[in-house]
Amino acid sequence: MSKVIVVTSGKGGVGKTTSSAAISAGLAMRGHKTVVIDFDVGLRNLDMIMGCERRVVFDFINVIQGDAKLKQALIKDRRLENLYVLPTSQTRDKDALTKEGVKKVLDELREDFDYIVCDSPAGIERGAHLAMYYADEAVVVTNPEVSSVRDSDRVLGLLNSKTFLAEKGDGSNVKAQLLLTRFDPARSAKGEMMSVQDVLEILAIPLLGIIPESTTVLKASNEGTPVILDETSGAAKAYMDAVGRLVGEQIEMKVTSGDQRRGFLQRLLGRTA
Ligand SMILES: Nc1ncnc2c1ncn2[C@@H]1O[C@H](COP(=O)(O)OP(=O)(O)OP(=O)(O)O)[C@@H](O)[C@H]1O
Ligand SMILES: [Mg+2]
Repeated sequence: MSKVIVVTSGKGGVGKTTSSAAISAGLAMRGHKTVVIDFDVGLRNLDMIMGCERRVVFDFINVIQGDAKLKQALIKDRRLENLYVLPTSQTRDKDALTKEGVKKVLDELREDFDYIVCDSPAGIERGAHLAMYYADEAVVVTNPEVSSVRDSDRVLGLLNSKTFLAEKGDGSNVKAQLLLTRFDPARSAKGEMMSVQDVLEILAIPLLGIIPESTTVLKASNEGTPVILDETSGAAKAYMDAVGRLVGEQIEMKVTSGDQRRGFLQRLLGRTA
């Protein structure tokens, strides 16, 4: 059965698009047929992070408005067999996304895909609401800082009340899990950043993973490669583990360091760090 997963946060710039790209690539690497959809109408960052911006001809909005078939808008990833991107348009018209239109597209995708990952825009307005509305599960992306945690808490309230599952009223709910991103263990130890425990106490949802602050993230996004494909990246390892947990595996929670550099001796011996 297919699953719709929304990647959401409330606060902007916390790592939703980075995480959507990494998670969808990780699911595809594990053999699951996966599509990642850009709900951030107007900004259109996902196709750049996925490295397919020059191949966009039709998009999500064209499909909703009946100007293109879904198959014409889906872009197949060149690196991973099971991965597809549904880009969005740069239109300023935020009303281009409609609840009925989103439902129609998701229903059609559910017939073909194992996982449908929805990259939400920031905030709690229309676009973010539509990105979460039909979700079965949510990955709540949070940075270890007060404003991000507070906004994630608001999003949790919406997931529990303003989604299709919540409105059904039969007790079913969107399963929400926390992805703590841009975590810096050294700064957290010095008290400059919230600890994992602090964040978990406030949000009180299961922890899906801890993604370290890493320079490899920006490098990968500049190259149009989901960071999970960079074998030298500590963030990639952390995303891999998070994807394992997302599909139900028991994987020990570890804080990886962001950048794994190979030492001189290791390079000489040809071993990885
Ligand atoms: N683990 C990380 N380490 C270092 N930088 C990161 C990490 N995760 C994300 N970033 C950086 O943070 C910035 C915002 O990331 P991203 O675009 O994924 O956030 P977003 O939540 O999708 O933003 P928006 O709300 O605008 O859609 C980018 O410059 C990205 O490279
Ligand atoms: Mg984004």
